[in-house]
Amino acid sequence: MPEIQPNEWLKWICSSQNFDELRDNYDQWADKYEADVGGVWEPVPLAAALMLAKYMGNKEGVILDVGAGTGLVGVALAALGFERIIGIDISPGMLTQAAAKGVYSSLVCCSIGNEKFRNLEKVNGIIATGVFAQSHAGPVELSALQESLESVGVLVFTARQSFLPELQEVLSQPQWTLLDSKVMPIYDDPMYLVAYKIRNTTKFGKK
Ligand SMILES: C[S@@+](CC[C@H](N)C(=O)[O-])C[C@H]1O[C@@H](n2cnc3c(N)ncnc32)[C@H](O)[C@@H]1O
Repeated sequence: MPEIQPNEWLKWICSSQNFDELRDNYDQWADKYEADVGGVWEPVPLAAALMLAKYMGNKEGVILDVGAGTGLVGVALAALGFERIIGIDISPGMLTQAAAKGVYSSLVCCSIGNEKFRNLEKVNGIIATGVFAQSHAGPVELSALQESLESVGVLVFTARQSFLPELQEVLSQPQWTLLDSKVMPIYDDPMYLVAYKIRNTTKFGKK
């Protein structure tokens, strides 16, 4: 893994050429990830967890942490009182770090929308920070998330301003209702934190 200068990590990881390279890069980065993203990224998982908590009726529901990484979002959710948190990620190395946090009910190594993902139990809320980005996940994956929800659920995710147009067609569907939007000026290209209420009108997958 190359030596990453502060603030260069984003450019490096987003230049991954394909799925396997992205997974391998995260695997190699896993034990240094938190130190590298450190103070810049620190407010994001907590802000996302707070936004999800605001729109979930209670803390009893099952939450899916998509692209759980090293578990920063899981820790924030657990601190807010959520107890049923499933984490998924493509990188076994990142999931090993997440497991050490001891806050997840289960951790599953899979990619959004693949067969293993579609066999997960239905959840009440989904949270995804740092996942919808260049070379990570896009509109196809965003659309696949709604199929993981019970008939109605809440999705909170981040995307940089320049990436939002790629997601717009999915976000404009009538089943998706914007609940909240917050700009976090942590990069030159601002980070949007958004919450949607989604009606899942799809049929497949486990109940
Ligand atoms: C920038 S990290 C964010 C981790 C964590 N959510 C946080 O806020 O610290 C993005 C994570 O998403 C995972 N990821 C990327 N694309 C994915 C996909 N299509 N399905 C599942 N996980 C994915 C990566 O392996 C990585 O751990």
